[in-house]
Amino acid sequence: MFASMLLMVLFAGLALFVSLIARANTGPENTASSIATFRTKCAMCHGPDGRGSAVGNRMNVPDLRSPAVQKLADAQLAQVIAHGKGRMPSFENSLSEDQIQELATYVRSLHHPALLVRGREGTL
Ligand code: HEC
Repeated sequence: MFASMLLMVLFAGLALFVSLIARANTGPENTASSIATFRTKCAMCHGPDGRGSAVGNRMNVPDLRSPAVQKLADAQLAQVIAHGKGRMPSFENSLSEDQIQELATYVRSLHHPALLVRGREGTL
């Protein structure tokens, strides 16, 4: 009886350990995919680093690293990405909700490169 309980505890511990490792491994993939999405869907206007491309600057895109943009909540960033704003197109039909959330996190990380690194390590 005692031995089987001990085994169960050990097994639960092992399962937790494995799931933690699995979670840590999804971090880099998510971040890598949000970088790729940003490059293909957003960089033509916002530039690869969020500063604004030549095309974007002609449309007066804000610097995504600026306090004005960074002060927006994640939900507000996701809202702009999904529905567009001014001359920015909406992306709700071309991106999944998860991708939009990831991009909101990515926009936030542009301001703070350390966050991007933490995102890669899966602790974000
Ligand atoms: C065709 C050009 C274009 C593309 C592509 C584009 N944007 Fe924008 N974006 C804009 C413009 C223009 C604005 C300024 C809108 C305004 O304030 O009127 C803007 C504003 C923003 C803002 C700031 C919103 C605010 O309220 O200040 C964020 C965040 C943003 N874009 C993220 C993204 C992301 C993420 C993508 C890719 C999914 C993207 N944009 C793709 C043109 C673009």
